[in-house]
Amino acid sequence: MPEFEPGAKRNMADVDRFSKIPNNVNLTGDKRLQRALEAWQPAYLEWWNEMGPALAQDKDVWLRTAISVDADGWANFDYVKMPEYRWGIFLAHPIADRKIHFGDNIGKPVFQEVPGEFRNMLRRIIVTQADTEPASVEQQRQLAKTAPSLLDMRNLFQVNVEEGRHLWAMVYLLHAFFGKDGREEADELLRRRAGDPDKPRILGAFNQPCHDWVSFFAFTMFTDRDGKYQLASLAESGFDPLARTCKFMLTEEAHHLSVGETGLMRVVRRTAELMQQNPGKDVRALGGVDLPTIQKIINFWYTYSLDLFGGEISSNTADFFAASLKGRYREDLRAEHTAMGQVKRIPVVEDGKLVEKEVALRNALNESLRDDYVEDCERAVRRWNHELEKAGLPDRLALPSRRFHRHQGEYSRHAFDPAGNLIDAKVFQARHDEWLPSEADLAYLRSIMVPVHEIGKIAGWISAPARGVDGKPFDYEYVKL
Ligand SMILES: [Fe+2]
Ligand SMILES: [Fe+2]
Repeated sequence: MPEFEPGAKRNMADVDRFSKIPNNVNLTGDKRLQRALEAWQPAYLEWWNEMGPALAQDKDVWLRTAISVDADGWANFDYVKMPEYRWGIFLAHPIADRKIHFGDNIGKPVFQEVPGEFRNMLRRIIVTQADTEPASVEQQRQLAKTAPSLLDMRNLFQVNVEEGRHLWAMVYLLHAFFGKDGREEADELLRRRAGDPDKPRILGAFNQPCHDWVSFFAFTMFTDRDGKYQLASLAESGFDPLARTCKFMLTEEAHHLSVGETGLMRVVRRTAELMQQNPGKDVRALGGVDLPTIQKIINFWYTYSLDLFGGEISSNTADFFAASLKGRYREDLRAEHTAMGQVKRIPVVEDGKLVEKEVALRNALNESLRDDYVEDCERAVRRWNHELEKAGLPDRLALPSRRFHRHQGEYSRHAFDPAGNLIDAKVFQARHDEWLPSEADLAYLRSIMVPVHEIGKIAGWISAPARGVDGKPFDYEYVKL
């Protein structure tokens, strides 16, 4: 692998754009790997055709495609039919003489091969990340049919094809560094299905139904955002190919998060407008999404996404940090990079009461990463609340406590209310529909999801975005139906 100066402009010739699998990892130089990936490709396309978007597969969509990792190549816009999208393998440029910058191996050269004793754990981490990528495509499969505008439909497709590319990014690592086990895992990734009781996806959030666009925006806001924090801490990795892969995935991921955050903001803005224009009227009677329903959708996806960070107290995560394989969010901004001799206080349940427990920081790194995530989510909620404020409304949205409605970690064995108070499980059951979307709420949301396929038109429950995509106006033909 050639070395380049950090930030140096690379020649497009480094990118093999025209082979079966576009890549900047010199696949033609490794025939065995190339053959293995070319053998996986038809199975991937079969999966895409079966589980990819259930509409518009034969239509031209205004999509960006990564053709290199440089500023002028990673977002190349054109009309593309999704099955013809060029899913490629792109790693951020190597940094010359990169050194490990956290954990017990600090100061040593980065690993170019998988350290033997962490092989299984690293494979597990890559497979778990990889599994989320096709899962989300499966969860979002039916949404195009009810897109509130052509721009939204286009954004959905953009997210979907890039999740497909993220699967490629992870499958490359499995094939290139994990031999036969890696190839078997890559095959399994195409066999599991989101929500399938017999062969479900690995993580809970990725088996939940996502059948309306408010849920889609909450998914991209909260669940994709977990992905951002996982990828960011893996982008710090001392295993250089993983770091470089995740670094480039993060550029694409930023768009998914903005689809979610601005999507929810547009729903809130429309609801605020309806409330302001029709004081005292039921928002549902006006065809909008009432604030309590928005709050419940937030509660649902935010809490399932909190689970994705793993247990509050975790020795696996400590081992991984010690081995310099998974860092913390923005490790570069921290003053100290060993996480030794420090503690974190975590509330846990003991004898039926919440008490604070002191945990060695290395064992509390999942919770530290969750802290960064929660802060980011709080910022978005303030932005949505600003819409309510501007409309002169007293109502506000909020994130529930991180103890509420958890299925993983310390809090999963107990029931909590949205404020984080320990409650009886029976009380939780009795008040479930007050805090989380009921069947009736979801049925209502589905009932207002009528497709709007006319250029420049928007559904009544959401406001139009302030800007179009790639400098184009909102009334652009983003999908040629
Ligand atoms: Fe992704
Ligand atoms: Fe994503």
